[in-house]
Amino acid sequence: MKRDFSCILVTGGAGFIGANFIRYVFYKTEFRGIIVNVDKLTYSANLKNLEDIERDFKDRYYFEKVDICDRKALDIVFKEYAPDCVVHFAAESHVDRSILGPEAFIKTNIFGTFNLLELAKKYWIEKNSLSEKLFHHVSTDEVYGSLGKKGYFYETTPYGPRSPYSASKAGSDHLVRAYFHTYNLPVTISNCSNNYGPFQFPEKLIPLMILNMLEEKPLPVYGDGKNVRDWLYVEDHCSAVWMIISESKVGETYNIGGENEWENIKLVKKLCEIVAEKNGKKRDYYKRLISFVKDRPGHDKRYAIKCDKIKKTLKWARSVSFEEGLKVTVDWYLKNEEWIKSIKSGEYHRWIKKNYKDRKK
Ligand code: NAD
Ligand code: DAU
Repeated sequence: MKRDFSCILVTGGAGFIGANFIRYVFYKTEFRGIIVNVDKLTYSANLKNLEDIERDFKDRYYFEKVDICDRKALDIVFKEYAPDCVVHFAAESHVDRSILGPEAFIKTNIFGTFNLLELAKKYWIEKNSLSEKLFHHVSTDEVYGSLGKKGYFYETTPYGPRSPYSASKAGSDHLVRAYFHTYNLPVTISNCSNNYGPFQFPEKLIPLMILNMLEEKPLPVYGDGKNVRDWLYVEDHCSAVWMIISESKVGETYNIGGENEWENIKLVKKLCEIVAEKNGKKRDYYKRLISFVKDRPGHDKRYAIKCDKIKKTLKWARSVSFEEGLKVTVDWYLKNEEWIKSIKSGEYHRWIKKNYKDRKK
């Protein structure tokens, strides 16, 4: 039987995947309850991501500017809205930033998750609330570490995080599991591969490359460009999370992935061709901008995910091919100049300067 929640508390709903998830739930599912979006609005958040939701779902969508590290403020949100489901996206999410400044990652990803778990325990377990509840924790395949040429990440793969970002996500996964085993808190966890699509902050590979092409700036490829990532269109991640919260047994963990491995350099060249075609340029026009730069420290070589469990038990399947997803994504960035302008603040320029400053080979 499917769960029927009356109030879903989404954390990090003004960021890339959180905003796509809220859109997915309101526009593409049978959900009839309310969503409360709790977000601190860090550099990667943008309330423009949800403008149409604010307009179309006035009575069913609420925004609360709250830091998940602030337990008192979070407590008020739990008391006021009495959520029966938490979908926890809020995190510091960029590996390069975690290398240059790990502290915010430890605070938000570990301590922030701990606060949410404590409040779910307080309002759901200690107050003996009767209706069905669920805490879904959104995590990453990076917790499993790095693969060589062969092999895959399974739900049973031992954790081996290697960056401050992935270590902080691994810590939060362990806490979520600990609350399930120790306090019977009803939880589920998902570990997903690299997402791409509309509303992604242009510090991540795909939107950064698209925007740099549009400005005819160098396309910085780390190391030899042979690192491999598995790419999934963001809406397919959202549909997987929706299926998990609707139908999964509590206590379960699911890998989510695109079964779509690409070497970075091949992906960047493919993107160059798509942007050239859309902009009426010659096929190889943007490839001259490719610039190999100094590698990311501890750069994980390859991620590859096996997601047979969610495919078999929940009948989830990816619906967007990579070819189609990349075209939709490039189109979206071409058509959304206002959004790009709004995100390219002074902070953005400072970040680009800082991250790429010493990368000349
Ligand atoms: P994002 O950086 O685009 O968005 C993160 C959101 O969390 C922002 O809106 C930000 O303001 C909010 N946030 C950060 N710190 C907060 C705090 N202390 N309190 C409240 N809100 C806070 O990130 P994303 O790419 O959308 O990732 C969302 C989640 O999905 C993360 O947990 C990430 O680890 C996970 N994930 C991401 C990917 C990916 O490819 N992007 C893949 C797998 C898993
Ligand atoms: O695997 C899931 C993870 O994917 C998520 O948990 C993270 O939140 C998300 O940021 C992403 O992490 P990556 O480090 O894989 O993503 P990023 O877009 O930063 O980099 C993708 C690959 O491209 C990686 O091998 C590094 C490389 N890269 C990245 C940037 C920003 C470059 O070569 N040049 C760049 O300028």
